[in-house]
Amino acid sequence: MRILVTGGAGFIGSHLVRRLVVQGGHEVVNLDALKYSGNLANLKAIETDARHTFVHGDIGDQPLVERLLREHRIEGVINAAAETHVDRSILDPGAFARTDVVGTGVLLEEARRAGLQRFLQVSTDEVYGSVETGMSIESDRLAPRSPYSASKAGGDLLALSYWTTYRFPVMVTRGSNTYGPNQYPEKFVPLFVTNAIDNQPLPLYGDGRQCRDWLAVQDHCSAIEHVFLRGEPGEIYNVGGGNEWENITVAEQIVGYLGKSRDLIRLVQDRPGHDRRYAVDCSKLRRLGWNPGVPFEEGLRTTIQWYQEHEDWWRTIKSGEFRTYYEQMYGKRLKEGSKFEVRS
Ligand code: TYD
Repeated sequence: MRILVTGGAGFIGSHLVRRLVVQGGHEVVNLDALKYSGNLANLKAIETDARHTFVHGDIGDQPLVERLLREHRIEGVINAAAETHVDRSILDPGAFARTDVVGTGVLLEEARRAGLQRFLQVSTDEVYGSVETGMSIESDRLAPRSPYSASKAGGDLLALSYWTTYRFPVMVTRGSNTYGPNQYPEKFVPLFVTNAIDNQPLPLYGDGRQCRDWLAVQDHCSAIEHVFLRGEPGEIYNVGGGNEWENITVAEQIVGYLGKSRDLIRLVQDRPGHDRRYAVDCSKLRRLGWNPGVPFEEGLRTTIQWYQEHEDWWRTIKSGEFRTYYEQMYGKRLKEGSKFEVRS
């Protein structure tokens, strides 16, 4: 198929593009605005592959999107472009509304006008809000609580409205916390791994007992591909790894693998409005024939090894814009933080 993938220089997007091109043999036009977390180094493996065309641009640029769909005779769109980090959404919510809602709207409208066969919106389990007990199913009411998850919910609902209103064949995946190689080191796993390698403190928010369901990026991408090719139009599919862990447990595993002291873990001031837990029921996607294949311990170990073996990749990032962000986000917190003492 000829597919437009957006956000394909980012973390999940670059894994997805590589998969679609190398394993799937698809022709991919990759549209990415190369904002702070987009990185062409993530696409080195397919740099010279004729099936991959990179285009630097924004999903909100209507004339550009219209032209790409037409000139490349695109058959389907996977929208993986997004502002994705909750902490940044607290600092600059407007950027999230612009890309995740308005940008998604532009893509949807152009794809509909071009009469495409398939449109997959990559959403997130965070649209369900904090789930204290049980598991979210696709028909649950959305209750996003951060500017990030509220913006993603906006894009998610807008996509679904295109099925209801126009019978435009949209599908939505709601994936859980994803980890793996190439993830920008603002996120929990790569931040803790790279800080631990450098013997720097690991800022654990609040009491460190929040729960996330960890999903390997390879599994997330196989799910997106599976739904794109086999999903039912108008349907939503939860994607989770089935690995629910408290943050403190993951932090302890990271220092354990790296042979570092757990004294590096610091309890710091919590994120405002921090969601306690996310958990998704993925039985609908399993019925469609998808299963995750990467056990968490193995996925975490190989991810840590990747960061050990690719210091150039993350040191370049951490020495740039990231430093200002880190100081703003963690400077005061770490000065006031305390060691994580006893596990009760
Ligand atoms: P994150 O990777 O930001 O994903 P999300 O908030 O979208 O789930 O964070 C995962 C969990 O780790 C979340 O509960 C917040 C927590 N966390 C910390 O304790 N310290 C940190 O420095 C970061 C970035 C996250």
